Amino acid sequence: MPRLAKNDLISIDDLEIEEIERIFVAADEFSHSLERGDTPRLAEGLVMATLFYEPSTRTRLSFESAMHRLGGAVISAAEMQSSSAAKGESLADTVRVVSAYADMVVLRHPCEGAAKVASAYATVPVINAGDGSREHPTQTLCDLYVLRKRKGRLKGLTVALCGDLRYGRTVHSLMYALARFGANILAAPTRAMEVPEHVLARLAVQRGYSYATVSMNELDSLAPDLDALYLTPNGPHQMALFTGEMAQGAARQVAPVLDALYVTRAQRERHGDEAGRVHGYLHVDARTMRGARTQQAVIMHPLPRTDELAYELDSDPRAIYFEQAAAGVPVRMALIARLVQHKAEVVKPKSPDSVLLLRLKATPQPVCENHNCITRSESAYLPPRFRLAAWSGRTGRSGLALQCDFCEQETTVEYIGNTRSRRYYRFDENLGSYARRWLEEGTLAVFRDPKQAEESGYEPYRRGPQREVMNAAEMARAVESLAEQLIDDLTDLTAVTIVGVLSQGATLALRVRDCIERRSGLRIPCAAVNVLGEDGVLLDMDGGSNVAVDSRTIVLLDDVINSGWTVQRAMAALWKMGRPAAVKLAVLIDRGHRMLPIRPNYAGKNLPTATSERVRVYLGDHAAQGKRKAPERAVVFSMVESLSAAEQQETG
Ligand code: NCD
Repeated sequence: MPRLAKNDLISIDDLEIEEIERIFVAADEFSHSLERGDTPRLAEGLVMATLFYEPSTRTRLSFESAMHRLGGAVISAAEMQSSSAAKGESLADTVRVVSAYADMVVLRHPCEGAAKVASAYATVPVINAGDGSREHPTQTLCDLYVLRKRKGRLKGLTVALCGDLRYGRTVHSLMYALARFGANILAAPTRAMEVPEHVLARLAVQRGYSYATVSMNELDSLAPDLDALYLTPNGPHQMALFTGEMAQGAARQVAPVLDALYVTRAQRERHGDEAGRVHGYLHVDARTMRGARTQQAVIMHPLPRTDELAYELDSDPRAIYFEQAAAGVPVRMALIARLVQHKAEVVKPKSPDSVLLLRLKATPQPVCENHNCITRSESAYLPPRFRLAAWSGRTGRSGLALQCDFCEQETTVEYIGNTRSRRYYRFDENLGSYARRWLEEGTLAVFRDPKQAEESGYEPYRRGPQREVMNAAEMARAVESLAEQLIDDLTDLTAVTIVGVLSQGATLALRVRDCIERRSGLRIPCAAVNVLGEDGVLLDMDGGSNVAVDSRTIVLLDDVINSGWTVQRAMAALWKMGRPAAVKLAVLIDRGHRMLPIRPNYAGKNLPTATSERVRVYLGDHAAQGKRKAPERAVVFSMVESLSAAEQQETG
């Protein structure tokens, strides 16, 4: 049997409009042949593997039914969580193995970007049946197929999407497709479930869509006390799309008349900690559908429904959600036929945009901020990959906005450095041209915060001479003072574990422990926490494999607290390991202020500094700069806020 060409379907944008049209024509033919009971045996001898890491009824069964109807065979791992994935097998290994058993893979996975990873490792075509909250392209084909049948066209229609537009993957694929067909989109989310920034950016940048906020007036049951976004193709006809009130110069634009209402359920399984906070979710019923703006609208839903769509609407002739589900078989038959019939020609997935793919040779590599990104769970073999999305954070944060090449979400880095000068800077917009040059030269390094930069061997760009505030002897005294305070304050030293923040805090932890041992004869367990990795990790410094956290008094130790960010991550790492009885914070130097409201319980020395100043402690290996062995010390210097300011100073 010849191998099928690798026509992966990861995003709805992998299909040209003409291909979608051809799929619809084929789906019509398959509908008829299904009615007649004479479906062609196009897939005879072929095997489809359905790998579902998440529950599914419609999608998996309609794919399998479509394959059977075409004479093909199906092997299924419907509950991947109970197969080898449960034993810790990577997605890459799984799809490589399955490529030897099947001619095509249909994959559903809870992580954003999983389908893209699978397509890179599978040697057979991969069809995305939903990857986290990212996309669900084959559902979109069913949606568009039925919508167009009912309305006769897609161009110029106004489709309202409501409910969970943040975590719902069907709506993301649907928005991308509607934009390509020239439809208008009214995004009417439930509060806190707004369309993600990167989705809006993609519609605006690639499809030229412009958007305006509109008031929901009589449609307010769709997006309770919230405005909606009205997205329209750019063009001369745009103004005509707004309703009469707007044309008459009303201050607020009002929601347009709808051709379709696409209702979605709250994707509670993706809400994580926010799950309990879902309230005021929409409820669409006969009353909603009586208004002037909804009278002509067909009612759509990808199903399953929970309580957002009333059963009383099932008999309403405008309800087409069961037709969407039924279209699953002929539409997916058409997709399989497309794979079978295009044996020779390999359709390359289109690169979605022309933005620069970052080549970051420097370590540390940035980590995708989306905890549900596939690069987080499959980090053993999957290095994060970013595109430069913008020269400043789009979500109000200043910094370099990096877009993950797998999940598409943005991560903002606030500090950048140059691998040649080994200096780092806080990013500001004036730095754009430097960052671009370094990026092109391959000398750009990016850091989450000064600590990460300094631990990686970078020095800040600084102004003026540094002032030594502590010498080696004074630092040793501060360590003694910390040990003394701990002995005095902590009544049961046998229940204490000292956890130092790597690397300086860990060096200090060992020193404090030694002091305590000298004074009290008691040797306290010592651990280190690495906060620079993806997720904080706790390491036993006494060679054991496990750090006991439960019911212990943890003394968390670092050299200086600058932002408080490190402490936050260290606490999160501790909490992952167990439930301590108490956590006390100790620092060598308390500089008197920090960005987060975190106060140390013990300080070796109080050293009030200005916010613009930075305190830097040089200990052990860190004391030796370059080849010259320098003594241990603590210094204070002013940070130059930006490189442009620094350059002005140098030249001025
Ligand atoms: C959708 C999904 O899985 O994203 N279901 C489906 O495939 N028809 C929608 C949902 O689960 O809400």
